[in-house]
Amino acid sequence: MSRTLNNVPMDKIVSLSKRRGFIFQSSEIYGGLASTYDYGPMGIELKRNIKDAWWQAFIQSRDDMVGVETAILMHPEVWVASGHTETFTDPLVECKTCNHRFRADHLDSELCPDCNGELTDPQNFNLMFRTFLGPMETSAHQVYLRPETAQGIFVNFQNVLTSSRKRLPFGIGQIGKSFRNEITTGNFTFRTREFEQMEIEYFVKPEEASVHWTNWIDDFFSWFVDLGIRAERLRVRPHEDKELSHYSTATSDIEYDFAWGWGELMGIANRTDYDLRAHTKHSGVRLDYFDEDSKSHIVPYVVEPALGLDRALLVFLFDAYDEEMVGDDTRTVLHLHPKIAPVKVGVLPLSRNAKLVPKAREIYDLLRQHFVCEYDDTQSIGRRYRRQDEIGTPQVVTIDFQTIEEDNAVTVRDRDTMSQIRVPVENLVETLREKLES
Ligand code: GAP
Repeated sequence: MSRTLNNVPMDKIVSLSKRRGFIFQSSEIYGGLASTYDYGPMGIELKRNIKDAWWQAFIQSRDDMVGVETAILMHPEVWVASGHTETFTDPLVECKTCNHRFRADHLDSELCPDCNGELTDPQNFNLMFRTFLGPMETSAHQVYLRPETAQGIFVNFQNVLTSSRKRLPFGIGQIGKSFRNEITTGNFTFRTREFEQMEIEYFVKPEEASVHWTNWIDDFFSWFVDLGIRAERLRVRPHEDKELSHYSTATSDIEYDFAWGWGELMGIANRTDYDLRAHTKHSGVRLDYFDEDSKSHIVPYVVEPALGLDRALLVFLFDAYDEEMVGDDTRTVLHLHPKIAPVKVGVLPLSRNAKLVPKAREIYDLLRQHFVCEYDDTQSIGRRYRRQDEIGTPQVVTIDFQTIEEDNAVTVRDRDTMSQIRVPVENLVETLREKLES
């Protein structure tokens, strides 16, 4: 669906998010905590719907996939084995005048962007958050908040393989929080220090890795488009050699065309057998697979589609947002796919008139057995439509005097076309279901 407003500026998303309860600055009443955010009533519904859509598409509806949920705190040796202790770093420079810190690889000049002061030489800064297990704050008790969910999957490879009896190719997916002490944050929830990831580790025979890698790129591209993202605002960008992570031989990002340019939405990497071999070496426990065809033990390769949930949510908001002229007014609307819209059906009595309210409540009670609904009888009907448009509610049902006095039918208004039809109450559930699923 085309949009009137093509390059949505960030401030519009930030303002809508606060106004309508999608995303708030964390600890706002104390002045906020840099680069951390809270999800409000609409935001959490949207987030849950995106998670559910991902889980359903990539775990539940495939017989080559299973899910796990692993702990955020892991044995510190995990991060030595994975390479994160040594290489999960960004080059940090500090201004000798104003003491502001920057990522050296994000700077265009050799001087401080804030005050033109001289910068220190770059020092590698490890992005993992540290904490302590138990009351002793010594290095022997130091652990990390995981910087990716992937390692929880690798260390459970043998557990999952044995208990699920899967054969190659098969994958393990997980949704959970990750933490990175990013030097450069910003662009709202695009890059934060605490975020959620939806990651898949797909284990394959080494010689089949590149075919699966290509398939996963296609699968995810289609998943975004099926959930309403406009294909022309997405692109696949292969990494140059110098960009590749320490574990990867090939990575492509799926990027979104934000107002500030193309930005990474997710990465799909060929992680080879790097992690399984590294954990075998460090733990002394063999992480491999007995291949019936060749009657030999092999170490599978891994294809990893890794998506940030918060970043996906931001993209869904950006892509859905529009401002349209309706007569002399501007209508702000979120054209969210019905599957992920926080509220599916708005139920609005024309007014709070004592005759209308009981009927409206009765219809609300009927509909909420089938759909996520919101009942609203505050303010004028125009303002209530406006609110439903702004939270992306695909269908709105209005109960008026004709409903109770004449035809026991209601008006159903479509968010995208704003067209209205009259629907008898006895057909309402079926009509709404058809519209939401079409
Ligand atoms: N296990 C591989 C891995 O973590 P990554 O490219 O570092 O790869 C995967 O992260 C995805 O997680 C990114 O494409 C992005 O969507 C999300 N992500 C990474 N860092 C993030 C951050 N600081 N804030 C929000 N999302 C982030």
